Amino acid sequence: MEFIRFKSYEEMSDFVANEIAQTVRTKKGCVLGLATGSTPVGAYEKLVQMYNDGKLDFSEVTTFNLDEYYGLSPENDQSYRYFMNKHLFSKVNIKEENINIPSGVAADVQDDCATYDEKIQKCGGIDLQILGLGKNGHIGFNEPGDQLYSSTHLTDLTQSTIDANARFFEDKSLVPTKAVTMGMGSIFKAKKIIIAADFKSKKEAIMKVESGMIDTSCPATLLNVHPNVIFAIVEE
Ligand code: GLP
Repeated sequence: MEFIRFKSYEEMSDFVANEIAQTVRTKKGCVLGLATGSTPVGAYEKLVQMYNDGKLDFSEVTTFNLDEYYGLSPENDQSYRYFMNKHLFSKVNIKEENINIPSGVAADVQDDCATYDEKIQKCGGIDLQILGLGKNGHIGFNEPGDQLYSSTHLTDLTQSTIDANARFFEDKSLVPTKAVTMGMGSIFKAKKIIIAADFKSKKEAIMKVESGMIDTSCPATLLNVHPNVIFAIVEE
């Protein structure tokens, strides 16, 4: 794993946006794995700017998002689908049919999860996967535990994640307790991964990853076995 330290959120966002832009420019029909949370918002803003400046074309790009809250429809303003529309999809020329986000309201969740993984493979796999990092070390919504799951699946959220994400909701009681997430295997099949996090707020998890150990109680540490990962750390 390559660790790159940035002096500011701005610099990290520039780096992530440029990596995404380079993938889009160099591989026609590329497949991007995208993340929500506050960390990638700056990079999405920069991508929108590149698009507005006529420097980036999303018309051939396919995206797969990592996760979605279970029980939230795409119209719900707390859903990750809504978040992605707001920060990126509605502002660039990506085709609606090329946008993929796990459904939080599928009638048959298991079937929907299996279809999601199949679709990633049919599209040729993810070229570049962007990840944020949970305070507790989760990636996507792969929460710490004795076991981790390989495929896209429905999962319970830990209290730590519910607490951390409560800041986006009017009331803590409104934070969903379950989510659909790409599994570790689905994420690890990506050809390249960039994980971004702020050192101050994610110190413990970042240090565990940096120690090189692999421990399911900090899922991000498993990234140590992937051959092509950049960890973009903001050191403000
Ligand atoms: C949520 C998402 C994760 C994301 C995490 C970090 O829990 N499911 O994919 O990495 O938030 O969020 P933030 O970037 O806001 O710290």
